[in-house]
Formats: sequence, structure tokens, C-alpha cells
Amino acid sequence: MKKTLVAIAALGYFGVSVLLVGGLWYLWYSTGPAPVQPIAFPHTVHAGRLQIPCTYCHIFADRARSAGAPPLEICMGCHRTIATDREEIRKLTRYYEEKRPIEWKRVYALPDFIYFSHKRHVKAGVACSMCHGDVANMKRVRRVNELIMGWCVSCHGVRGASRDCATCHK
Ligand code: HEC
Ligand code: HEC
Ligand code: HEC
Ligand code: HEC
Ligand code: HEC
Repeated sequence: MKKTLVAIAALGYFGVSVLLVGGLWYLWYSTGPAPVQPIAFPHTVHAGRLQIPCTYCHIFADRARSAGAPPLEICMGCHRTIATDREEIRKLTRYYEEKRPIEWKRVYALPDFIYFSHKRHVKAGVACSMCHGDVANMKRVRRVNELIMGWCVSCHGVRGASRDCATCHK
């Protein structure tokens, strides 16, 4: 009798641990700071080893509010001929041929009521890495800054940029 109770308790404990670990794993990988993407795109290869400039792919970063996800045409410029035998490149080619956009999971996103512009920051010489970290060394893009107000405002203080409420709250 006692043995059975201990066994049940142990099983229960084990079950809870599995649930906890599973739950945390799920949270980390689905909504966490480094979401799994529809295609395992490695910045380490492109921005790291090949040293392709960030704005070669994120073509609006110095021209508009949003940096932009790369048009597939840019990828295909190389991947029509490079690494075409790999599974991830086959996937990429299928999206391209079927004219389906890839639904990349967002890593960084501000609430709608905030005004932000990449162009202003990039033109003022704020490096991508100041806000996004060392992306060229990330196998999967990971959020390195929670986009809270204090973070924006403290850099504005250091850099002498505006701290009027209306700058970011329109
Ligand atoms: C300037 C050329 C170039 C561009 C542009 C480019 N790639 Fe690549 N990509 C490469 C090279 C080179 C490799 C490394 C291939 C190897 O390992 O032999 C690579 C590797 C990859 C891999 C890893 C393949 C594997 O499983 O080993 C993926 C995925 C990938 N690219 C996706 C993309 C996507 C998506 C885009 C567009 C956003 C893109 N690439 C744009 C040149 C490019
Ligand atoms: C060859 C094309 C390519 C180059 C070069 C490139 N990126 Fe990317 N980037 C992508 C693609 C594709 C995604 C979407 C998939 C992902 O998150 O990995 C992305 C995603 C990102 C994200 C996450 C966006 C979000 O959802 O919030 C950031 C930040 C980023 N890139 C920054 C950079 C920086 C900084 C550089 C230069 C050091 C760079 N990228 C160079 C193709 C590229
Ligand atoms: C001053 C901080 C800052 C700098 C500098 C910065 N970003 Fe961002 N980035 C952000 C914020 C904040 C967001 C979320 C924006 C939103 O939700 O509207 C973001 C989002 C993104 C995204 C995904 C959404 C989008 O706008 O397309 C990409 C890709 C990106 N950044 C790439 C870059 C690249 C590449 C550079 C350098 C050329 C860069 N960023 C420089 C703060 C910055
Ligand atoms: C790493 C430093 C840094 C961070 C972090 C940063 N900013 Fe800035 N921001 C600047 C600088 C520098 C300027 C001034 C650009 C100029 O003079 O044109 C600026 C300018 C701006 C402007 C335009 C100001 C104007 O006068 O019209 C807005 C809007 C803005 N930032 C919003 C934000 C928001 C929202 C965040 C946080 C999500 C943020 N910034 C985070 C450095 C930063
Ligand atoms: C440089 C940009 C920036 C400036 C300047 C700024 N804010 Fe914010 N604020 C943000 C960002 C980004 C958020 C959203 C993230 C968060 O809640 O921290 C935010 C969130 C808020 C919120 C919470 C809103 C909600 O519903 O969660 C309040 C309230 C607020 N700000 C008030 C102010 C006031 C008052 C001022 C002027 C004294 C001000 N802010 C100046 C960027 C800014």
C-alpha cells in the first residue's frame, strides 16, 4: 500500500515536471525571443561568413519606417544556382514559384500606438547592432532588447534626441 502511494506520488511529480519543462519549451520556441522560422535562414552564413550588408536584404531600413523582409527575388538571385539540393532551399524555391509570401515570425514588434522609424535612426548613424545585437552571429534571430519605453528614452537622453511624449506617442 505504502509502496503504491510512493509510486503514485513519484509519477505525479514526474508528470508535473514533464508538463513544466514541456510548457517552458513550447513558450520559448513559439513566442520566445527566438521564434522558429518557416525556413531556417542562417544570418551566420549570409551576414556573417558572406558579409552581405544588412540593407542588401532589409532594403527599406534606410528609406522607410520599416526595415522590411527581403523580397524572395533577392534570395533567388543566388539560390537559383547555389545550394539547390538542400531541403531549405527547395522550400524557398517552392514559395517563390508558387508566388506565396513567406510568413516570417516577427522577432521585434512595437505596439501599434508607438511611432518609430528605421530611416531616422539609420540616417543618424545608429548601428543596427545597437538595437538588434550581433545578428551576424545568430543562427536564429533572438530578441536582445525588450522594446520598453525606458530603453528608447534612455538612449534618446544619451544621444540628445527628443524625449517629448509626442515624438513616439502621436
Ligand atoms: C549573395 C548570395 C546569397 C543571397 C542573396 C542569399 N543567399 Fe542563402 N546562401 C548563400 C550561400 C553561399 C549559402 C551557403 C551554401 C553552402 O553551405 O554551401 C547560403 C545558404 C543558405 C541556407 C542554408 C542552406 C542549408 O541548408 O545549408 C538557407 C536556408 C538560405 N541560404 C536561404 C536564403 C534566403 C531565404 C535568402 C533571401 C532572404 C538568401 N538565402 C539569400 C548565398 C546567398
Ligand atoms: C541574405 C539576406 C539577409 C541579410 C544579409 C540580413 N538579413 Fe536579417 N533577415 C533576413 C530574413 C530572411 C529574415 C527573416 C527570418 C529570420 O528572422 O531569420 C531576417 C530577419 C531579421 C531580423 C528580425 C526581424 C523581426 O522579425 O523582428 C532582424 C532584427 C534582422 N534580420 C537584422 C539583420 C541585420 C542587423 C543584418 C546585418 C548584420 C541582417 N539582418 C542581414 C535576411 C537577411
Ligand atoms: C534605434 C533602434 C533600431 C535600430 C538602429 C534598428 N532597428 Fe530594426 N527594429 C527596431 C524596432 C523598435 C523594431 C520593431 C518595429 C515595429 O514594430 O514597428 C525593429 C524591427 C526590425 C525588423 C522587422 C520589422 C521591420 O521593420 O521590417 C527588421 C528586419 C529590422 N528591424 C532590421 C534592422 C536593420 C537591418 C537595421 C540596421 C540597418 C535596424 N533594424 C536598425 C529598432 C531598431
Ligand atoms: C541606441 C539609441 C536609440 C534607441 C534605442 C532609440 N532611439 Fe530613437 N532616436 C535616436 C537618435 C540618435 C535619434 C535622432 C535622429 C535624428 O536626429 O534625426 C532618434 C530619433 C527618434 C525619432 C524621431 C525624433 C524626431 O525628432 O522626430 C523617433 C520617433 C524615435 N527616435 C523613436 C524611438 C522609439 C519609439 C524607440 C524605442 C522603441 C527608440 N527611438 C529607440 C536614438 C535611439
Ligand atoms: C522615445 C520614445 C518614447 C517617448 C519619448 C515616450 N514614450 Fe511612452 N512609450 C514608448 C514605448 C515604446 C512604449 C510601449 C512599451 C512600453 O509600454 O514600455 C510606451 C508606453 C507608454 C505608456 C504605456 C501605455 C500602455 O498602454 O501600455 C505610457 C502611459 C506612456 N508611454 C507615456 C509617456 C509619456 C507621458 C511620455 C512623455 C513624458 C512618453 N511616454 C514618452 C516610447 C516613448
